[in-house]
Order: sequence, then C-alpha cells, then structure tokens
Amino acid sequence: MQKEDRGGFGSRIGAILAAAGCAVGLGNIWRFPTEVGNNGGGAFILVYIGAVFFIAMPVMISEFVIGRASHSNAVDAFRSLSKGKFWSIAGYLSVLAGILVLSYYSVVAGWTLYYSFSAVSATLSSSSDYAQTFSHFVSHPFFPLIALAVFLLLTHLVVVRGIQNGIERYSKMMMPLLFILMLVLVVYCLTMSGVSQGLDFLFHPDFSKITSHVVLSAMGQAFFSLSVGIGCLITYSSYFRHDTRLVSSALEVSLIDTLVAILSGCIIFPAVFSVPGVSPDAGPGLVFITLPHVFDLAFSDSPVMYYVFSVFFYLLLLLAALTSSISMHEISTAYIRERFQMSRTMAASIVSLLCLLLGVICSLSFGPWEHIHLFGLGFFDLFDFITAKLLMPIGGLLITVFAGWYLNRKVLHDELTNRGTLPFTFLRLVTFLIRWVAPIGVCVIFVNEIVSFFSTK
Ligand code: ALA
Repeated sequence: MQKEDRGGFGSRIGAILAAAGCAVGLGNIWRFPTEVGNNGGGAFILVYIGAVFFIAMPVMISEFVIGRASHSNAVDAFRSLSKGKFWSIAGYLSVLAGILVLSYYSVVAGWTLYYSFSAVSATLSSSSDYAQTFSHFVSHPFFPLIALAVFLLLTHLVVVRGIQNGIERYSKMMMPLLFILMLVLVVYCLTMSGVSQGLDFLFHPDFSKITSHVVLSAMGQAFFSLSVGIGCLITYSSYFRHDTRLVSSALEVSLIDTLVAILSGCIIFPAVFSVPGVSPDAGPGLVFITLPHVFDLAFSDSPVMYYVFSVFFYLLLLLAALTSSISMHEISTAYIRERFQMSRTMAASIVSLLCLLLGVICSLSFGPWEHIHLFGLGFFDLFDFITAKLLMPIGGLLITVFAGWYLNRKVLHDELTNRGTLPFTFLRLVTFLIRWVAPIGVCVIFVNEIVSFFSTK
C-alpha cells in the first residue's frame, strides 16, 4: 500500500483530540481514583505527575518521532527505520499488546455500557445492594458477553470509517462532550458537603505515605493512562502532518490527560466523603459499587438529580473508554491492512473478532471460568499482568532506546524540530529525558514489578 493511500489527520486540533482521546480513558476515571484511594491520596498524585512528565511523556515523544518519521504502522515503522529484523520485534510486541489490552479493556468497557444503559433506563437504583448487583452482572454467563460484543461493535464502526471520517471525526465530537460532562459533574461535586474532605484527601500530600510501592504504582499508572509502550501513539502519529509539533503535542496530550484524571478525583472524592461510612479506598469496585451507592444516598431526596448525575457519569466513562479503544484497535487494523494489502473493513473485522474471542475468555473468568487459573491468575488478571506489567514496560524501554540511541541523530533532530523550522530551546533536555531518564525509570518499574510479583507467589 502506498504511503499516500494511508490517510491522515486533516487538522491539528483533530490530531490532538484523537491523541488525547487515546490517552483519556477508563485509566483516568476508573483506575486513577482507585490508585489514589489505595495509595494515600495527595502524595500519590505528586509522584504520579513526576512520572507522567519525566518518564511517560518522553516515551510518548519517542513514539511520535518513530511514527511520523516512518509514516507506517507499528511493525513497519521499526522495520523501515532500522537495518535487519531485530527491531521489528518491538513492533510485533506493540500489535500483540494492543490486541491483549483491547480484549480485557473491552470487558470493563462493556460493564460501563451496561451501567450507562441502566442509568439511562432508570434501573440503576432498583437494587439497594450495589455490590451484589455488580457481582451478579459480571459473573453472569451471558449478559457481560453481550455488553462486550456491543462495545466492540461500536469501536469497530468508528475504526472502519477510517482516519478522517472515523477516528478524527468522532474524537472531535466525543472529546468536547466528555469535557462538558466532566465540568458539569465537577461543578456539582464542588458544592457537595464532603468537598473539603475530598479535596484535602486529593491535594494534601502526606509525604510519609510515599513508599517504593507508591512510586511504582504511580509509574505504572502513568504508562497505562498515557497509553505509552503499546504502539498506539506510533500508529496515530504516522497519520500526523509534517507541520505537527511533536514535543508541544506530547505536552498538550499529557496535560489534558493529567487534568482529566485530577478532575475525576474532584468528582469522585467529594462525592465519597459526602456520605458517612464510605471509604475512598474501595478498590476497582469504586465506580461500579461505591459510586452508585454514594449517588443514591447523596440524592435520596431528589430522584431527578440522581438520574441526571448517574447518566452523566456513566456516559462520561463510556465516551472515555471508546476514544481509547479505537486507538488500540487501530494499531492492529493498520498493521493487518498494510501487511496483507486488504481493505480496512476486512482488517478491522479480523481485529474485532479476535478481541471478541479473547474478551469472552477474560469475561468468563469472573463467572463460569472463575476457577481456571494460569500462573495463579484468572484470565482477566493474567491479561492485565502480561500487558501492564510486562509488555508495556518492555515496549516503553525498546521505544526510548530505539529513538534515543539507535535512530539516526539527524532523523530524531529533524522530527523534533520539524526539519529545523522550529526554534528548539529544550532539545537537549528532551533528548536527555529520552536517552537516560525514561529508560532507567522504565527498568526500575519493570524489575520491581517482576520481583514483587514473584515474591508474592
Ligand atoms: N490510556 C487509556 C486509558 O487511560 C488506556 O484508559
């Protein structure tokens, strides 16, 4: 396939919103508050911000350089910028990681779809035992699979429309809507009775809480949240125009992603602290069990507010999941389409069916296949472990080493400065972060994750 046939983003704002959509997802609204709650609040956020800007953002800049310099899918990007076949391994790992992440991510996104549907049809509050409702749903042999399939179909329908008509167009619609929903919820939550306790929990750092575990969790969260290390951003930046400024785009995407994560905290923690006896460290069930319970109690005298609030919140979560899932889908769709010279629809269908199959396996691990374990983990947790703990850090390491040490210095410089047309005051700092800080940071995360995993086995 000729490079000019690949399509590309039509506008700078479209490219930024698509890349921001790739980053902003369940990681910001579901995983971030859970991590903050489990790791002591404000102290975690400080470390997280450091990890975003010093480690994950340099990986993102490296992905932008590799993608735009090659104008190729994740596998061909490494192949065309290197000699020999070794570096293609990094591309194959990206495609594999993208498929695996999308498979288990779509399971949680399917739960979000179900909760959105329940919120819109006003059936969310029909049971007062939210923990039981959640566990009944996720362990059901059939319903979560339908939700998973519908979510993957939505993702598929965006991806088959291509870059400008699909990904860019829908990102331009969904991202502003996501910000509006989020601002409405933040403004309301800042009037709730638990606001001072919630904001204190979120912003008051207690440095005694910073342990090595907190540092490692913050780095892992930064990788997951910015979607780095799995080739999403290599693929998206291969559609960037020549005049897109890579470093400022990476900075903008990182700032948007961090802002959305912190605003999610400004929604969730004031709400949680407004209800006596509810704890902020409820874990992954926070947004599916704790929050409906909190909304129920907080709006017990106003069913309309309960309805509006729950609809807005779950739609927000659903939009965020969708903007990320299309980016993960596109990694493999672009590769299969270009590698096997097939139509976008055919390539996307193969990816959707594969993810459906793997997603079904992950989903069943909450129900009928709960007893099946490999290496001590159910399928969902195994996929999470293989991707977040192994493939993402390995990918991040390979990407920064490739961009910082292997890639021709002139190519790196040309991409960072748009062929010398941008004055580049921070070039040395950015290069230093790519060559030293990010790879060393990634190695530290990786080694510690592996050691802590095997020491608990
Ligand atoms: N970056 C995506 C998210 O945060 C995967 O959900």
